[in-house]
Amino acid sequence: MSPGMVMSEESRKDDFDSLETQYKKGVKHLFDNGIEHVPRKYILPASERPNVVHEKSTGDVDNANLKLPIIDFAGLQGPNRSQVLNSLASACENYGFFQLVNHGIPYEIINNVVGVSKRFFEMPYSEREKYMSADINSPVRYGTSYNQRTDGVFCWRDFLKLVCQPLPDVLPHCPSSPNDFRTLAVSYAKEVKFLFLMLVDAILESLGLMNKRNVTQKDDDKDEDEDKEKEEEILKEFEDGSQLMILNCYPPCPQPDLTLGMPPHSDYGFLTLLLQDEVKGLQIQHQENWVTVEPIPGSFVVNVGDHLEIFSNGRYKSVLHRVLVNSMNYRISVASLHSLPFESTVQPCPKLISETNPRRYMDTKFSSFLEFLKSRDSTKKNFLESRKLTS
Ligand code: OGA
Ligand code: NI
Repeated sequence: MSPGMVMSEESRKDDFDSLETQYKKGVKHLFDNGIEHVPRKYILPASERPNVVHEKSTGDVDNANLKLPIIDFAGLQGPNRSQVLNSLASACENYGFFQLVNHGIPYEIINNVVGVSKRFFEMPYSEREKYMSADINSPVRYGTSYNQRTDGVFCWRDFLKLVCQPLPDVLPHCPSSPNDFRTLAVSYAKEVKFLFLMLVDAILESLGLMNKRNVTQKDDDKDEDEDKEKEEEILKEFEDGSQLMILNCYPPCPQPDLTLGMPPHSDYGFLTLLLQDEVKGLQIQHQENWVTVEPIPGSFVVNVGDHLEIFSNGRYKSVLHRVLVNSMNYRISVASLHSLPFESTVQPCPKLISETNPRRYMDTKFSSFLEFLKSRDSTKKNFLESRKLTS
């Protein structure tokens, strides 16, 4: 072998290493460096690209905008509660998603958390890099793609994950720049947690698991007392439950048809409350088609996660969703994922199981999910599939 050949092989390896290093710095970094073509690392196989119409689809509606069911949170507190609960149940059964309006979180708090997320990603890479960690259990973790250690093809997204429970333990790790980051992120995290608890209360009632409001209990009714205790136990568990906040940044992409901001996935957890800015991008799978969720400023996109599908024994659906990118605009979203404490076991609610509706899912622990993440490509709806019982 000639010395020249050895050189060229080495330099090719150097090129490769430096490319990999660049990719690990994320897509904001690529975009800031004026990238004009999507690198091979981000190009999806033709069948997985965003504008492919699949055989099963009922028509070319990939770009159709979907008006998700709208749930009026204020309506849940008034005389129309039972109608709103019916709409909530039907949204969770038929879409797995809804938009929550009139939720009571002040517009300023929402604007501030989206604004400070934007400013976080606008900081120089050297500032953001401080929060990178190879440990997926780290309470604060900056990264890129979906799962940068296992993704064969990278996606066009950078993120910052913050574990928010218990808040006092996490605070010292929370980014201190921008200098108002901590205050704004924490006040948002508290508000959204409270909203989640109110929603859980409504969801349990919509599943027929809570005593109806305003019904005076008879003192001698032991069963009802026991039910009430059980409900309070569940709610208490959620109060101490897990909360993970994910700030997502999707920079403009020179060839948005070749890649995705986030691959199809369902959310681990009970419910996700998502804030998206005015830039479209989120798509959900609905009746075999990918449809775009139209942003409603100031509202939340709420979706059923794997744990709620399991808990409801399959009645409420944890639906696949993905994110498209575009060549013009940055898109920012803030997702808050909530569930039971990490050490709890999630199982179909015993009251929802009967002879005619047998148990459909195995008991599931957070550790089983982590094992799954380590062992397999997590971009498919495999985790929930892997928890299904086959009769
Ligand atoms: C997520 C998610 C959608 C979005 O963070 O799990 O699906 O629009 N985000 O960023
Ligand atoms: Ni998601």
